[in-house]
Amino acid sequence: MARSVLILFAHPAFQRSRANRALAEAVRDLPGVTFHDLYEVYPDLLIDVAREQSLLSSHDALVLQHPFYWYSAPALIKEWLDLVLEHGWAYGEAGRALAGKDWMSTITSGGGEDSYGPGGFNRYTITEFMRPFEATAHLCGMRWRTPFIVQASHMSTPARLAEAAAAYRAHILALQRRGEDA
Ligand SMILES: Cc1cc2nc3c(=O)[nH]c(=O)nc-3n(C[C@H](O)[C@H](O)[C@H](O)COP(=O)(O)O)c2cc1C
Repeated sequence: MARSVLILFAHPAFQRSRANRALAEAVRDLPGVTFHDLYEVYPDLLIDVAREQSLLSSHDALVLQHPFYWYSAPALIKEWLDLVLEHGWAYGEAGRALAGKDWMSTITSGGGEDSYGPGGFNRYTITEFMRPFEATAHLCGMRWRTPFIVQASHMSTPARLAEAAAAYRAHILALQRRGEDA
């Protein structure tokens, strides 16, 4: 049976988004996918922890989709991590609620591939910037999946964005099919 996927989406200015909009439209209606728009659900930024934990518990895989902001994520993602991944629930001796579930991050960045890495003006690769997320997944006993990354998103043509959106859809479908031992 296809595994259920919770897409935790965060974009504080979704009405102006091009890249995330294209990606979101490609996956939000897939069967078995719950598209959860954090800024829409929590416009006052007050996160309902019990509701979020229950959503996590009822899905097999978590996808964190957001634009890359200051080498990280929009603020509501940080708030969500701080509040929802509680000690004794998500991590710690008794905290096994997320163990064995998948975590995949979906990132759009303004900077292109050339700007990321030792020779680029951002100095480090996106993989390096993603380490705090990877370590968080690991601490919660989750399986870290290779992030889906769309770079230089502001320069992307509609054709390139459509291509990225189709690839993203295929990626989510593959995540749903992936078995326990994958
Ligand atoms: C507050 C803010 C911080 C940003 N920080 C970065 C960054 O650290 N690295 C980067 O490559 N792009 C950065 N960007 C550019 C966004 O990642 C880019 O505009 C976004 O991914 C485009 O997606 P969208 O069309 O869905 O908005 C930033 C943009 C904003 C508004």
